[in-house]
Amino acid sequence: MASLKIQSKHAAPNEVSADVLAVGVVASGKKGDFGPAVAALDAALDGAIAKAIAKEEFTGKRGQSVEVQTLGRLEADSVVLYGLGDVESLKVDAIRTFAAKAARSAQANKASALAIALPECLDKASRTIGEGLELGVYRFTKYFTGDRQPKTALEKVIVIPASKPSAEWKKQLELGQKIGAAINHTRELGNEPPNVLFPESYADIAVKLCKENGLDCKVLDFKEIQRRGMKLIQAVGQGSAHEPRFVHMTYSPEKKAKKKIVIIGKGITFDSGGISIKPAPGMGDMKSDMSGAGNLIGLMEALAALEPEVEVHAIAPLAENMPDAKAYRPGDIWGSLDGKTVEIVNTDAEGRLLLADALAYGRALNPDLLIDNATLTGACLVALGANCSAFYANTEEAGAAFQKAVDAAGENMWRMPLLEDLRDQVKSDVADVKQAGDRMGGSITAALFLREFIGDQKHWIHVDIAGPAFADKAAGWSPKGATGHGILTFLALIEQAAD
Ligand code: BES
Ligand code: MN
Ligand code: ZN
Repeated sequence: MASLKIQSKHAAPNEVSADVLAVGVVASGKKGDFGPAVAALDAALDGAIAKAIAKEEFTGKRGQSVEVQTLGRLEADSVVLYGLGDVESLKVDAIRTFAAKAARSAQANKASALAIALPECLDKASRTIGEGLELGVYRFTKYFTGDRQPKTALEKVIVIPASKPSAEWKKQLELGQKIGAAINHTRELGNEPPNVLFPESYADIAVKLCKENGLDCKVLDFKEIQRRGMKLIQAVGQGSAHEPRFVHMTYSPEKKAKKKIVIIGKGITFDSGGISIKPAPGMGDMKSDMSGAGNLIGLMEALAALEPEVEVHAIAPLAENMPDAKAYRPGDIWGSLDGKTVEIVNTDAEGRLLLADALAYGRALNPDLLIDNATLTGACLVALGANCSAFYANTEEAGAAFQKAVDAAGENMWRMPLLEDLRDQVKSDVADVKQAGDRMGGSITAALFLREFIGDQKHWIHVDIAGPAFADKAAGWSPKGATGHGILTFLALIEQAAD
């Protein structure tokens, strides 16, 4: 559900009434000259903007901002200029960040109405602006009571485009907001504590979402998971008091689909490590080990709004990884839906096991492209840092298509190689495959393990979102905590497939 009331108004910024007026400006060749709209504001403020620009050495560089209090001389309490840098190198991520920062900072300053003026170079960016605004106001406040509850919220945004907005411009703004709200829905799930969000409750949320949006939803319970031979999901989930679930959501376009895409998301609602238990510090963050599955909720919600001509199957294997008398153990050998046997060496490498069965299930749907996304390895953070996902592709065609989507969405992802040299690490002396290799190249060997379960699927992409799925501080359009990172790229990929 969208939280903002967003309107658009073609007017001079100094004529629009709001608590805060945010103005996006491009870097100027002429010192202190940011165009007629800023000049008009400066005149209304008796030169206070020019003074602040000089004092703060504001040049309109990307990421810079300068704030001026209006002291009653304008409708707005304050005017904030946001630098967008030069037009030639301005990309979607900086545009989304601008809108998100304007909204987040207005909300932090207890504003209830924000006006945001766009420079001409953003005439075609209304969807991105809509996304950024809604994403920017997200905060996880559900469990605050009394004084801890926020007393104010940003409620209204008036977007002021440089040119007269068309109906299509307004439609894209609205669509962007819906996408932002869908991603916020995913964030809410990643932030939910694991005593509230477990496999059964995720399944309930998926059923509800699909019902509301006219999508198909199938839930396999634990009995059915076992009956179908999803032994690896059983292995991971059987040590928990919360039974595993397997959720399959489907979006089908009204017109004939141009492509079929299957996307799988790891749904470990809490990862204690199991018998190979994790150290205590930071273990609570493992409530977000269902972020891959969480992404599917926001993705499906956004697809229902976007209505692309692509059939999309979203598949979430869900389990809680706990140590228990019934838990699976290192040394175990388990079968799988694919048929291959797996030697377990570390119960903390549970995600790839869930994914293995889900990949075998997903590939049977004969998709043009099979994707999985998962908070899979700590090694991925070692390789790329905490703000970048790794992606792997088994064909150049799939790799190039995914890279194009990454660029269009502006998310931080980097392609990694499926190094054949490391394949020995997932060979077993006692079973068909070994679950995990050694520490070195841990993100790659996890991908190589998954590849064992794609059968003859032609195009496959694996995305390790372990770093960016859950953030320890706000950055760009993402808040602290669950981010929903990945959804924008998957949406871009699906929209591309419809072209
Ligand atoms: N869920 C974790 C990976 C993870 C780590 C996600 C940090 C987000 C932040 C995964 O299940 C895991 O524990 N992986 C192990 C694999 C190892 C035992 C082969 C890891 O990365 O240490
Ligand atoms: Mn684990
Ligand atoms: Zn995990």
